[in-house]
Amino acid sequence: MKESFVIKGLAGERKLSGDIPVRGAKNDTLKVLAAAFLFNDTVAVTNVPDIDDIEALSNLIQDLGARVVRTERRIEVTAPHETSTVLDRVMTKKFRASVVLIGPILARYGKVSLPHPGGCVIGARPINLFLKSFEKMGATYTVDDEYYHVKAKKGKLHGADIFLDIASVGVTETVMMAATLAEGTTVIRNAAMEPEIQNLATYLNRCGAKIEGIGTPTLTIHGGDVLDSKGVAYRVIPDRIETGSFLVLAALAGDEVRITDCEPLHVRSLLSLLEQAGVQFECGVDSITVRKPLTPYKAVNVRTHEYPGFATDLHAPMTIFLTQAEGESLVFETMFEGRLNYTQDLIMMGADITMFDPHRVMVRGPKLLSGRELEGPDLRASFAYVIAAVIAKKQSTIYNTSHIDRGYENMEERLRAIGVDITRVTE
Ligand code: EPZ
Repeated sequence: MKESFVIKGLAGERKLSGDIPVRGAKNDTLKVLAAAFLFNDTVAVTNVPDIDDIEALSNLIQDLGARVVRTERRIEVTAPHETSTVLDRVMTKKFRASVVLIGPILARYGKVSLPHPGGCVIGARPINLFLKSFEKMGATYTVDDEYYHVKAKKGKLHGADIFLDIASVGVTETVMMAATLAEGTTVIRNAAMEPEIQNLATYLNRCGAKIEGIGTPTLTIHGGDVLDSKGVAYRVIPDRIETGSFLVLAALAGDEVRITDCEPLHVRSLLSLLEQAGVQFECGVDSITVRKPLTPYKAVNVRTHEYPGFATDLHAPMTIFLTQAEGESLVFETMFEGRLNYTQDLIMMGADITMFDPHRVMVRGPKLLSGRELEGPDLRASFAYVIAAVIAKKQSTIYNTSHIDRGYENMEERLRAIGVDITRVTE
């Protein structure tokens, strides 16, 4: 069954209005589901978004023997006392987050086998830093045609002093989780500081872990016993990438739009650039209201950076924004080498964009975009195409809704509620 979105463009008019709620963060939920393997008892997770990646990870952990009970916006996971430690090849290759499972499984059960994980095609995405960190913690690994086989010597990891060559989100989370059950103390230097990592670490501490330095680039983890949730549920934080994408949509096509159920503090880097560009907005405790601009938007330069810098996951929506701003903007994607390819489609829509190299593009605006047939290369760029289609003249068709369904809950319903003319078409 093939599905696509058909969107009627507003041709630059600012007509959207009303409230649009943000759902729980995909990348927070995925990690806590993996963390459940560190627990003796059931971990309940609330504010869970209804998206395909959560379904995919739930299936993978069930295949490993976990019990997963799902009700609306809530998942309960009970890890088995004994598990298969081999991650299913087909399920693992569906998405990158499957790799974080290796931390809890290796730490608790002493070994794990995984194929190279899949996920969005945005660059090479190696797993060398995971393997290097686990070697420091006393694991060895072998590689055969399909699988990495990682084993803790004597069945248990030990603490280590680990410097991450890149402040990787996945490696920080995975090693931090593993270290909670390792013997002795682990220090992770140049750790990533994303809000998802902070939320996870805070919860693990409530459940018996000893993690110091939360929210800083140096995490110190004193290993201990299997954790106990004591019946305390994990609340997933609002999705900051969804929040940021809605901000851009509202800035470009909104009369007055209020983004609700969000955490404005998590999108400060984006708000700072939007403010410089001339976007009129007002932050509440858990909402941001975007109003019509007083003057045309101005160009700003974007350089992606680990949190709290500008999120790589937000440069695609931001590039759409810049096609509507006056002047030249440089977009510099520092992390992934295949992540700017979507700009080719924007050029076909009428954007004036020059690619200097795989990491840098120059955007000249403003240019009225023209609707066309599109197929998103990855999850975040696919949503950026939705924004481009909404502001363009004429109609666009975005083929293959699966990228959007992987990461955004019921997108068309929420967009329709603020006035977007969007229909899901099933062939
Ligand atoms: C997380 O991916 C997110 N995914 C990504 O969001 C996000 O783009 C990324 O962090 C950066 O913020 C999830 O949380 C599931 P990294 P992750 O390890 O952890 C290199 C989305 O759309 N690296 O921080 O995989 C890597 O190649 C997704 O929701 C190595 O070289 O990202 C990249 O250049 C897309 N070796 C850099 O580190 C390794 O062993 C940062 O990636 C690991 C990573």
